[in-house]
Amino acid sequence: MHTPLKIGVLVSGSGSNLQAVIAQIENGTINAEIVCVISNRGDAYALERAKRHRIPAIHLDHRLYTGREAYDAALVETLREFGVQLVVLAGFMRIVTPVLLDAFPHAIMNIHPALLPAFPGLHAQQQALDYGVKVSGCTVHFVDAGTDTGPVIIQAAVPVLPGDTEETLSARIQAEEHRIYPAAIRMFAEGRLSVSGRNVTIAPYPFSPATTLENPFAEPPPAA
Ligand code: GRF
Repeated sequence: MHTPLKIGVLVSGSGSNLQAVIAQIENGTINAEIVCVISNRGDAYALERAKRHRIPAIHLDHRLYTGREAYDAALVETLREFGVQLVVLAGFMRIVTPVLLDAFPHAIMNIHPALLPAFPGLHAQQQALDYGVKVSGCTVHFVDAGTDTGPVIIQAAVPVLPGDTEETLSARIQAEEHRIYPAAIRMFAEGRLSVSGRNVTIAPYPFSPATTLENPFAEPPPAA
């Protein structure tokens, strides 16, 4: 087995996606180590989750920096100190600048609670409800300079049901987030992802079963 991938996770809030990734690292499904969790907010519950798993939990307060570039420079410095190879944005509520992007080319991932390119930006679930779509979902993508515009790695769809509220739709989508974000990170850790322009190619798993509502049709097998 290769050396575990070193992951840095950036958060601002609850950290349920962080928790899902921790679980799959701890049970051996993903060959990686979360070497630091960094939050721009001191009260992010994600920091507590990190501490519980003995992961360095760092509060880097954006208000102490002169602007986005200065803040991102501090992020890069911290991520480099920990030897981070993949940056995972998990509910990180900040726009990132080229200072961070250029330091980790094709090595920053984000999860968005809609089927991009539909409904980028904030309140994606409410946007989907307001538009009246019948299917929504979530997208894991590499981060580029735009808002939720980077190359798509994996998506999962969920139905929008009669009577749905932002809360009920968000909960249905989050269950899928917790499945596909660890899957995408695992693919990265296994060296299966290659990016060409907007297109991400995934080296297939042998014997991968096809599923109906998911693209790519490449469900990782259970850990050996
Ligand atoms: C998720 O809904 C994700 O799609 C969005 O922010 C939320 C983070 O939730 N980017 P959590 O902090 O992982 O619970």
